This record gives sequence, C-alpha cells and structure tokens, in this order.
Amino acid sequence: MSLDLDARQRAMLEEMHVHVWWPESGEGAVSAAAPVAAPGPVRAAPKNIAEAMAAAPELAAAHASTPPATTIVARASAGDIEGMDWPALQQAVAGCVACALSKSRKNTVFGVGPAAPADGRPPQADWLIIGEAPGENEDIQGEPFVGQAGKLLDNMLKAIGVSRHGAEDGQPHKAACIVNVLKCRPPGNRNPAPEEVAQCAPYLRRQVELLQPKVIIAMGRFAVQSLLQDTVPDVVATPLGRLRGKVHQYHGVPVVVTYHPAYLLRSLPEKAKAWADLCLAMDVWKKRKAAETAQLAVQAEIG
Ligand code: URA
Repeated sequence: MSLDLDARQRAMLEEMHVHVWWPESGEGAVSAAAPVAAPGPVRAAPKNIAEAMAAAPELAAAHASTPPATTIVARASAGDIEGMDWPALQQAVAGCVACALSKSRKNTVFGVGPAAPADGRPPQADWLIIGEAPGENEDIQGEPFVGQAGKLLDNMLKAIGVSRHGAEDGQPHKAACIVNVLKCRPPGNRNPAPEEVAQCAPYLRRQVELLQPKVIIAMGRFAVQSLLQDTVPDVVATPLGRLRGKVHQYHGVPVVVTYHPAYLLRSLPEKAKAWADLCLAMDVWKKRKAAETAQLAVQAEIG
C-alpha cells in the first residue's frame, strides 16, 4: 500500500528509523478521515478502587476480605458482562476484585480513546490497539501506554494518521482506543498469569463487542495469545513473527499481529517490520471503510 504522508509524519518515521518509499500522491494515498468524536478521555467512571467502593458498599465488603494469591472473590459473571453498556463495563472494571492484582494496584486501567457519548454508547473508534498490562506509570495515571513505549506507539500511530485523541494539531486523525489484556498492573511488571488473563478476558471481549472497531492491532504475545487462542492452533508455541503478515479474526473483527512497542525500543531493526504491520492494518481499515461507505450509499438510495 502507499501512504500520502505530510512532512511531520515523515519526520516521525525517520525518528523511528523506519525508511519507506514516499509516494508524491496517488490512488492508494490515505485520505483525511472526517474528524471523529471530540477529544477527551474514555474514563468517566470511577477508575480506582476507592472511588468504586464509595459508589458500591458491597464491593468494599468483598474487597476488604480478599484473600491473597489469585483466589476469585468477586467479579460480575461473564453473562452479566456480556449485557453491559460502556459505562457499566467501566464501573465493573473499576470495582473488580476478581484476582489478587486488585490488592496491589493503584488504579484500574480501562483504556483510553475519544470521549464516549453520554448515552451509554461506546466511543467511536475504528482502531483498537491491544497491549499486555499496565506498567508502573499506567498504574499511577490510570491510562494505558503513558511511558516510553507509549510515546513510540503514539508516534507510530500518528505516522499513519491515527491517534488516541481523535483530532490533534488541527490534523484529522483516525480515532483509536487503546486497551490492555489485563486491566490491573502485575506487581514488578511480571508477566500476566494465565488465571489473571482468564479473569480479564470477558472485559476485553465486551470492549471489542461494544466498540466494533474496523481493525484490531494485537501487540506482543499476550495480546496475540488472548485474541487468537480459539482460532490459531497451538498459538502459545507459535513464534509471534510467524503470525505477522496475515489478517486473523477475533469475533468477526480483523486482527493484525505486531511486536510490542517495549520490545521495539530494545530492538531497532524490528521497527521496519512493525511499520509493515501498520501498513497492513491500514489496508484492512481502508477496505472496511470503503465497504461501509458503499453500504451507506446503497441504504441512502433505497431510502
Ligand atoms: N505495556 C503495555 O502492554 N501496556 C501498557 O499500558 C503499558 C506498557
């Protein structure tokens, strides 16, 4: 695919050590998308345990008696989560005490993206970026990818006109929501435990169902394994590199696999591969956007 990038975006890619051929213009050029929902954080609901407890005394009682380790204490059932709208899902995550991570976290990290409308619908975002779990800074700020890896991620997304804030610098951007597999920080940034991933999975699934993104980018092996465990045989044993370069599916949404930005910070040569992954995701987005536009045109004609 080709991208029609401005000087600022090209500079960003240079900074990322990504060298690509720049078309002057052309059919494949990415057109400026209409501005999406007004910028602002997704999180309007209580985001830390104290806020959630104040709103729900029964959760406070459950949390106070949470035993150590990963014993399950309280979480809405998967069935309940399936029926939640966006604000209810935010509340459920904010008050979740399903595993021991609720004891050590400072904040839950639900996700970030353009502002959700006030009527319970999710934010409008065609792109969903999925990482692993909050780190120290994310735990403190309650927002995903706010550290060095987040800066790299934002720069890479900006280079293709995508942003967690919708419109920035007067430039039209395609809106992205950014979430993690785990909504709470594993202490010491250790890897997520399988039972923690399992406890959080219904939240992630509901986020996808509600957002209905046109494309998902799964970053790193935990996101990839969580999303593709039902569709890719032996995904745990499959090297991430072998899953790149093709379009997978998660509940009807196309998934593109790429490296985690924290890995890219340590491994400069892989940045060019990550850029290829973003280009593949952009191809997917463009096709789905075109199909949607055509369908809307037909509907308008039918009346
Ligand atoms: N790494 C992740 O996977 N997620 C974050 O939010 C931050 C770092």
